Amino acid sequence: MDYKQQIADILAANTGLESEKIYSLIEIPPQLEMGDYAFPCFILAKTLHKAPPMIAAEISSSLDLGGTVLTVKNAGPYINFYIDRSALASGVVGEIIRSGSGFGSSSEGCGKTVIVEYSSPNIAKPFHVGHAFTTILGNSLARIYKKLGYNVIRMNHLGDYGTQFGKLITAYRLWGDEEALNEDPIKELLRIYVKFHQEEKENPELTTSARENFRKLEEGSPDEVALWQKFRDMSLVVFKKLYDRIGVDFDNYNGESFYSDKIPEIVDILNEKGLLVESEGAKVVMLEDEGLPPCIILKSDNTTIYASRDLASALYRYRTYHFDKNIYVVGNTQALHFKQVFAVLKKAGFDFADNCEHVAFGLVKFKDMKFSTREGNVVLLEDLLNESVNKTREIIENNAKERGQDMPEEEINDIAEKLGVGAVIYTFVKSGRERDIVFSWDEMLDFNGDTAPYLIYTYARTRSILRKAESMGINKDDGDCLELLTGDDEYALIRALSEFGNSISKAASSNEPFMIARQIAEIARAHNRFYNNSSILNCDNDDLRKARLALCEAVCTAIREGLDLLGINTVERM
Ligand code: ARG
Repeated sequence: MDYKQQIADILAANTGLESEKIYSLIEIPPQLEMGDYAFPCFILAKTLHKAPPMIAAEISSSLDLGGTVLTVKNAGPYINFYIDRSALASGVVGEIIRSGSGFGSSSEGCGKTVIVEYSSPNIAKPFHVGHAFTTILGNSLARIYKKLGYNVIRMNHLGDYGTQFGKLITAYRLWGDEEALNEDPIKELLRIYVKFHQEEKENPELTTSARENFRKLEEGSPDEVALWQKFRDMSLVVFKKLYDRIGVDFDNYNGESFYSDKIPEIVDILNEKGLLVESEGAKVVMLEDEGLPPCIILKSDNTTIYASRDLASALYRYRTYHFDKNIYVVGNTQALHFKQVFAVLKKAGFDFADNCEHVAFGLVKFKDMKFSTREGNVVLLEDLLNESVNKTREIIENNAKERGQDMPEEEINDIAEKLGVGAVIYTFVKSGRERDIVFSWDEMLDFNGDTAPYLIYTYARTRSILRKAESMGINKDDGDCLELLTGDDEYALIRALSEFGNSISKAASSNEPFMIARQIAEIARAHNRFYNNSSILNCDNDDLRKARLALCEAVCTAIREGLDLLGINTVERM
């Protein structure tokens, strides 16, 4: 609950000032005795022709605060608002306990459809960390929209088409090794692709052959289609293994190839509207009015291009799903491409262009990491995950040794996998997406830092208290004692919990999952302060003990649901 907003709305209804204006004037008093929020009345003096203290007194005595957890008192020119801690605790903790895994859900997206396009790797190319960024970000956004009740369509716009497939077909016929392909398809396809580019410099006939093969592919010639299909199928097997590992899924894999036969219609539409012009043999749409370079639709040999496939895809998506929002989670290096595509759609009279959005993100960098770059000069997601899981396993083993704990190997492996993968995912979603990400083992595996291991550890430790309570036969509170949760640490924690739902809405409206990451990190920190300063199981007041256990349960629900929205798994013990 945004209490500041609530106060602004109440005051707006009582003063005639705009709620936004009031919101900007509300202060957080330096001392708690002066309230949780304060509104200075100076701004009303002119219109009401009264002294600010008098205004404050009058308004405070007449405000209707019914249905809120607020109380009000004036002091000098200020109207001070106090949150009733008992009412807040009963309301917030009670609601979380009642809603369980539904906590944070809402119906704001009811009846609306959002398409989230993410991952979209290129067939026959290694799955590098740049593709990990879109995959992880997009997966989180899809989960967030779903939680808010939207109908979500998760699309993988595979890079499975284009002139490079002409090159691959030529290269495979010349140098392809079937056995190597079966063994490690992406490695073999990359090998022949790189070789093609080396040989092409000396041998221009290769270029001609590749172009010819792509043309045949577009025309549906069976031999070329069969080879292309084989490359695509084999690459997808590799990608799907990775997707499974990081818990990512799609509703469809309509790649660029899917739109190839839908381009003639786009060309016709653009022609009819008189938008298509010849330029150096190619067909383009001029966008100088939009301050953009021309968008090429057909190349001089009449073959299609990346942008034309995106135009066909946008139209297809609209016709098929009637989306309210169509978002493309793609690196910011493609910002110009999407501006051009959306501008062409708009020019062609498709108003749904206004509901298309490029959700961009920054680059991925590495601080204290060395990878043997197996393939090309890129870091592969698989290597990053493996290394993270291995390092996590070492940490867990050492911790267990220190505590004299004997953990079965299988359990260690399971925890290491979840924490190690979670640590990588969290690094991608913990900051604003447009910022470059810097990976550092020290930071991302710090069990006390702003990391997935810290959050998962907080969760697991709290779960163990709840298990212990259960085994001692202590029941959690059924609601009656929650009003006892009024201590400063409890209050801070409950305030953080009360912001959870809000953080989900904000994450969706700005397409920024980090808002949820930040909120659960704050909940975990507040919880650990509460946990360190208060006795829970040993609390000598039975009612308070029950209430505190209920608070622990609420914290677990929030952390688990929050991590789930980011695409991260929890463990029950560690
Ligand atoms: N396959 C492209 C790449 O790896 C990304 C595709 C982005 N999506 C789109 N609709 N253009 O760079």
